[in-house]
Amino acid sequence: ATRKAIIAGNWKMNKTATEAAELIDALIPAVKDADCEVVICTPFTSLVTAVEKCKGTNIHVGAENVHFEKSGAFTGEISADMLVDLGVEYVITGHSERRQYFAETDETVNKRTKAALEAGLKVIVCVGESLAQREQGVTEELVRMQTKIALGGVSAEEMKRVVIAYEPVWAIGTGRTATADQAQEVCAAIRKVLGELYGEEVAEATTVQYGGSMNAGNADELLSKKDVDGGLIGGASLKADAFGAIVAAA
Ligand code: G3H
Repeated sequence: ATRKAIIAGNWKMNKTATEAAELIDALIPAVKDADCEVVICTPFTSLVTAVEKCKGTNIHVGAENVHFEKSGAFTGEISADMLVDLGVEYVITGHSERRQYFAETDETVNKRTKAALEAGLKVIVCVGESLAQREQGVTEELVRMQTKIALGGVSAEEMKRVVIAYEPVWAIGTGRTATADQAQEVCAAIRKVLGELYGEEVAEATTVQYGGSMNAGNADELLSKKDVDGGLIGGASLKADAFGAIVAAA
């Protein structure tokens, strides 16, 4: 693909701040020669450490979620302004684990995406079907709908700060990767929706990632596909050598 490739790690609920510092020390040399953009999304508790350690390196730092209100009585939540103030650059919205376990909906994913963009963050918006949905043959319809609702009210200008991550739920953390053709097919369908919403130019310029059991062994083939512009990496982002190898493939 000719667009900017982005390899992003999603650490999920892993690593204390102390452990994060150690992992970042190992990641810095492992990804320093990257041709792609490198992002690590860490738990909130490791963000200060990550921002500090990644200063002056080619690693960009992101959070894994953000609340949509600016401030107020929302115990336990974190606002976009709080992230920006720390020096955080990216945030993930709509990860399937947030949708599945924390009752996030297409509507709240949209609110989070808009709030993050308004605060100046770059946003990795996640979409993807469950196994049942794939078997029922509704993958494309579902992903189209998730993408459209997530991007409601987002301007073409703001799309410069939006990345879409296609993550089939059945491939996440299961070791069962989508085939490169399956990933290509859905990433292309997402780009088609972007074209309908924003026109060809925006669609062609937007980075669309694949995520779901991507690792050093399969990254090459997945990333060779025309519409797969990078990866959102869970498990393999927790090991510097594995993450470094995926970055090298991009
Ligand atoms: O956000 C990352 C994905 O959920 C993929 O996770 O690489 O552990 O399958 P995984």
